[in-house]
Amino acid sequence: MAMKITVIGLGYLGATHAIAMAELGHEVIGIEPNPKRLGDLQNGLIPFHEPGLPEALQKVLEKGNIKFKENHDEESFEADMHFLCVGTPQLPGSYAANTEYLHAAIDALAPYLREDAVIAGKSTVPVGTAAELTAALAAKVGFVPHLAWNPEFLREGTALEDSLRPDRIVIGVNDERSEELLRKVYEPITDLGTPFLVTDIPTAELVKVAANSFLATKISFINAMAEIAEVSGADAVKLAEAIGYDERIGNKFLRNGIGFGGGCLPKDIRAFMARAEQLGVGSAVDFLEDVDQVNLRRRNRVVEIAQSELGSLSGKKVLVLGAAFKPDSDDLRDSPAIAVAKLLLAAGANVMIHDPISLENVNAQHPEFDTEQDLLAAAQGAEAVVLATEWREYRELNPAHIGAVVANRLLIEGRNALPVADWQNAGWRVIALGRNVHAAAN
Ligand code: UDX
Repeated sequence: MAMKITVIGLGYLGATHAIAMAELGHEVIGIEPNPKRLGDLQNGLIPFHEPGLPEALQKVLEKGNIKFKENHDEESFEADMHFLCVGTPQLPGSYAANTEYLHAAIDALAPYLREDAVIAGKSTVPVGTAAELTAALAAKVGFVPHLAWNPEFLREGTALEDSLRPDRIVIGVNDERSEELLRKVYEPITDLGTPFLVTDIPTAELVKVAANSFLATKISFINAMAEIAEVSGADAVKLAEAIGYDERIGNKFLRNGIGFGGGCLPKDIRAFMARAEQLGVGSAVDFLEDVDQVNLRRRNRVVEIAQSELGSLSGKKVLVLGAAFKPDSDDLRDSPAIAVAKLLLAAGANVMIHDPISLENVNAQHPEFDTEQDLLAAAQGAEAVVLATEWREYRELNPAHIGAVVANRLLIEGRNALPVADWQNAGWRVIALGRNVHAAAN
């Protein structure tokens, strides 16, 4: 049954959630104070790149069951549910997450909160945040609000699909009313057989950081194996394949390369370390420091390889293929590709960046780099090419075409996504991270 809901904060998570909720048939009010983002959404535009989302927004705008506002007004008082989707970025100079936007969101909601309405937090938070928010809100409104936690697991690039057909829905609740309304809001999804887990609130808060820590650990595990492989003549790509057949291990998230980035994994493991420390159990997640360090070391490895191949990089043109932290995204937050480009620049190289869709963001956020939208023009005269983001366009690239315009056919394969033999057959010297670097083949 359709419900009236607000979605507070329309970044990646909130915009996708709002559109997904409208697609399920609910009547959605999205709240977003950033005028540019708000204006875009009101005009039917998605302010970031996410496949399928613009079409879905058009559809729900035409259906008329979504609207976007700068602030709450009397209409918010009619809503049965409020989803908190504001960001919780890393605090500058610290590992901890900044929860001030959540506090600001509940302060702004307080005058429009009905006593029987339910608030569901979706942002990734340090365990204990929901209890703090509940206490702060109770002091403002004079009753104990129904506040639940409902972590979101969407991945960029498949955000809408992940929202409409998630692996599972997890809700952490303290009261029956919250469970009742959350069951109702997700009914069209759970009717399809999606597992629905009801937990206490701290568990629900922890699920997201635990899941992201596990994923980050898996990637750093294979990147640690890559370090061993590189000095022992082994091949970490084959190693991953071989261990991945064990169902207990699984083959996903075992691709070695320049590592993880983005708006979630890096900041979430750091915030988890900070929170565990505050709770007096920092040593329980000490290993995440190593996970972070292995991840950061892989970025340096690219520069080491470039230097060992080319000698000094001073004045040498290096083409970095990809800027986004992963394909099908224009998100540059903590992007390993940008980090590698920065290290190459610091080592004296003339860095040229190509990316199919995020060059506008690169130019705005990192004006120190040369960028070029045309791939062959970007490659002209390059002494080395680094694969930093495995866009399909690069996976399907004809190595002979790009080989014809570079000054030196050296490919540093930072994502293990290209057909190495094809590149070698086209005369490229390929050095792939984690593989037997001097004889990488197949
Ligand atoms: C992640 C979680 O997957 C998602 O569930 C959560 O809600 C938000 O954080 P996302 O940040 O979109 O999603 O990216 P993800 O697909 O997890 O990739 C993260 C990073 O890991 C990327 O930089 C990717 O290139 C890298 N990665 C992934 C690897 O280096 N190797 C792999 O095998 C897989």
